[in-house]
Amino acid sequence: MGFLKLKLDIIQPNQNLLLPNHSHLVSLSSHLNQSSKLFPNYPTNCYKITSTSSTLGTQKFAVRAVIATQPPSPVEMGKAIRVHELGGPEVLKWEDVEIGEPKEGEIRVKNKAIGLNFIDVYFRKGVYKAATLPFTPGMEACGVVTAVGPGLTGRQVGDLVAYAGVPMGSYSEEQILPADKVVPVPESIDPVIAASVMLKGMTAQFLLRRCFKVEPGQTILVHAAAGGVGSLLCQWGNALGATVIGTVSTKEKAAQAKEDGAHHVILYKEEDFVARVNEITSGNGVHVVYDSVGKDTFEGSLACLKLRGCMVSFGQSSGTPDPLPLSAIAAKSLFLTRPTLMHYNVTRDELLAAAGEVFANISSGVLRVRVNHTYPLSEAPRAHADLEDRRTTGSVVLIP
Ligand SMILES: NC(=O)c1ccc[n+]([C@@H]2O[C@H](COP(=O)([O-])OP(=O)(O)OC[C@H]3O[C@@H](n4cnc5c(N)ncnc54)[C@H](OP(=O)(O)O)[C@@H]3O)[C@@H](O)[C@H]2O)c1
Repeated sequence: MGFLKLKLDIIQPNQNLLLPNHSHLVSLSSHLNQSSKLFPNYPTNCYKITSTSSTLGTQKFAVRAVIATQPPSPVEMGKAIRVHELGGPEVLKWEDVEIGEPKEGEIRVKNKAIGLNFIDVYFRKGVYKAATLPFTPGMEACGVVTAVGPGLTGRQVGDLVAYAGVPMGSYSEEQILPADKVVPVPESIDPVIAASVMLKGMTAQFLLRRCFKVEPGQTILVHAAAGGVGSLLCQWGNALGATVIGTVSTKEKAAQAKEDGAHHVILYKEEDFVARVNEITSGNGVHVVYDSVGKDTFEGSLACLKLRGCMVSFGQSSGTPDPLPLSAIAAKSLFLTRPTLMHYNVTRDELLAAAGEVFANISSGVLRVRVNHTYPLSEAPRAHADLEDRRTTGSVVLIP
């Protein structure tokens, strides 16, 4: 710690004194007191100076103070997964990283649990382009606030918060986040559940409640019905009063989808799902298809829709669907949309409403979040391999 004399201007008692960054006050001229240090979280130290003598009034004084300069606080370090080159699960590297301090409008969060999502695979492989290389993947987590940026109100150290979406980087022990992107987690919700349901649950929310608003009596088709999003779509779709048809690859997954409220389950690797949907709906087709599988199912999904039905293509786990001519949707006056959660949670109000509805549905028992797989964060490569190889069901969570 080095010492230097502060070049103080004339100040008067009761004036706030701002010292340079990483400095603090160690002594003052006589007749003056440091009454309080203001704003302890503010990086520039700020003191209120008061007079020790009642006779001094508001007279101005030239004061000399000695301040000790402290070296900048050691850079916060932690461990995170980083991707230096695009590729298979093996490109996920467990490394030391600089976490840093939150700036204005930001908070630092120590993650308790991190949700794994198929979008993390797209970024790792380069299907979606990350803004930089290297990058830390991950778009969903729940953790405790460990620092708040200067002047920030509304968030405190110790708060339990969760987030989903941008900025990417949740595969980290600790991370810096914009404060307006996190939501408080109700006490009744376990952090692991919160981490596993923020992105997937809010996806189910916007798909069923806003993108195509499901009404009682409608029939919906959900592909990959035992997956993270699929499991929630089945439960929530059923609760909304829809007849739910799910597709899955194995008998074990079929049993889970049934438990989750799918009225009919089709093994789409063995059965022709278009023919089966036709049979189940007596040739009428479904009102909406929620298709996250993409390439392998897209064309068949269109064939499953009734007149004026809605095709919601919201993912491509099997690959990007081929381009289609307008005539493909003209044949039945179909609606086609390719929605993204970020475009449905643009404002803070939208984010809070979506998360609030998900948490409320968990509390009331409408949603039973299946955290079927947990891995240490350092073993993210194994978790990615399992997700891509279709070995997982429900939500997958990484624990730092
Ligand atoms: N648009 C958005 O805003 C948004 C938001 C969240 C998620 N999503 C999308 O929703 C989908 C589900 O995400 P999730 O994280 O919950 O993953 P998930 O559904 O748990 O896992 C993907 C599932 O897709 C099925 N699948 C079919 N063909 C596949 C193939 N060739 N390779 C791998 N899987 C295949 C598998 O189920 P079966 O074995 O039963 O076939 C697999 O378990 C993803 O496509 C994701 O991109 C989109």
